[in-house]
Amino acid sequence: MQLTRTGLIKVCLIHGPNLNMLGVRDPDIYGKDNYATVNLRIEAHAKSLGLEIRVQQSNSEGDIIGFVQDAMSWADAIVINPGAYTHYSYAIRDAIADSRLPTIEVHLTNVHAREEFRRHSVVSPVATGQIVGFGTQSYLLALNAAKTLVEESHR
Ligand code: DQA
Repeated sequence: MQLTRTGLIKVCLIHGPNLNMLGVRDPDIYGKDNYATVNLRIEAHAKSLGLEIRVQQSNSEGDIIGFVQDAMSWADAIVINPGAYTHYSYAIRDAIADSRLPTIEVHLTNVHAREEFRRHSVVSPVATGQIVGFGTQSYLLALNAAKTLVEESHR
């Protein structure tokens, strides 16, 4: 599939802070799959959709902004779970808005059914959409959405 000027649809997937601790971190809330297993599932699903994917993780706001800025030079879409930065990082929100890339905000948990502070996302207003509450599957659904969004923008 030669949809974009660079060939295959390319997705930049970003995991924010503490997501490297999946499997160890509160498994009753975030699931028993560890970080490596989650990424294997993400990569297998991307492959089955014919997407090229680069998976990155950082616990630092500045690194995450760097991943978004870097994606502007190579990616067709961003899938991001900003972790707790979701709720207060105007800097990540600005980077996403400035990138002008279709961006899908992902959360493993249903943030709307949790503590009050998790119900507000400063990222959502600049994201194309949000997928929450499906555990690891949230990322897989986001890849489906990324593919469709990029395909539709090239019609
Ligand atoms: C999370 C939800 C955030 O509130 C939390 O800080 C996380 C994970 C999720 O995937 O459900 O780190 O983004």
